[in-house]
Amino acid sequence: MKERIEAILKEIEELKCKKEQEIEEARVRLLGKKGEITRLFEDFRTVAPEQKREFGQKLNALKNAAAAKIEELRNAVGEQGAAAAAFDVTKPGDSLPLGSRHPVSIAREEIVEIFRKFGYDVAEGPEVEDDWHVFEALNFPPEHPAREMQDTFFVTDNEQKNPILLRTHTSCVQVRCMETMKLPIRVVCPGRVFRNEAISARAHCIFHQVEGLYIDENVTFADMKQAILLFAREMFGPETSIRMRPSYFPFTEPSAEVDVSCNICHGKGCNICKGTGWLEILGCGMVDPNVLEASGIDSRKYSGFAFGMGVERIAMLKWQVKDLRNYFENDLRFLKEFETSI
Ligand code: PHE
Repeated sequence: MKERIEAILKEIEELKCKKEQEIEEARVRLLGKKGEITRLFEDFRTVAPEQKREFGQKLNALKNAAAAKIEELRNAVGEQGAAAAAFDVTKPGDSLPLGSRHPVSIAREEIVEIFRKFGYDVAEGPEVEDDWHVFEALNFPPEHPAREMQDTFFVTDNEQKNPILLRTHTSCVQVRCMETMKLPIRVVCPGRVFRNEAISARAHCIFHQVEGLYIDENVTFADMKQAILLFAREMFGPETSIRMRPSYFPFTEPSAEVDVSCNICHGKGCNICKGTGWLEILGCGMVDPNVLEASGIDSRKYSGFAFGMGVERIAMLKWQVKDLRNYFENDLRFLKEFETSI
């Protein structure tokens, strides 16, 4: 009898039932009219009188353990049932917060898209470049200040021949296009550029440019002016005014800088436009014949224009961002403002 009691105790301990029906079956098997424990109670009659006390206690403990276990299992199944009933599978799911594209990406794509509509292809090139593509082929004389350490991050020693550096503008991509593409060429080159400049509300050592190049027979300054005017109108709306000022770039002759009216202060003057009411967004000019020749293009047959703009600047004007540093700090409060612009 002792062994049978112990075996049933063990069985109770290990009992695992997941369904109500299984629990009921276990209850009948153990405590039912013909159950194992009930039968033990019947056998108890035959136990010797001196052992009755010991086995009586054991049997009662066994019966209580079985009842407690059944109760415990029933509770567990009941809780699960209640939880399942509380879970409404027909309810709509929780909505996931939607991310947004970075304002610089949105602006870059918008610029590129405008020029794509004008028939320009898109070209990209390496960020780590050589001196030839960034300076030499673009007609920078060896002593030009832009080659100095203040402006350029050099990767290799800048005293050596054709040093490696981080590109300071994407004009180097245009050089690569002139070297490899068939004429006529009409490309825009979006990309990240690097300059060793102090970080402020208007400048950063990393920023983005979109530069463009158009080379064909009989391309004139008037064509360039028209392209830039159309671009400015597409980008900022027909009411935005632009102005062109004579300027200098080693790779273009003549050169100009293009300003757009500052729509942060509407011409009144603010810290972004330094009180002038105008924001410089773009440099441009007719490609210098030396540049065409350096890339193997016949400058007597072909002419062209080039332009380059800062994407952060354009985005600043478009969305009235007052501080360039916002673009690089990944502050969600700033980035979330562009959620609807996806
Ligand atoms: N590469 C010039 C810059 O980074 C911009 C530019 C491009 C000017 C093409 C003229 C023509 O400032």
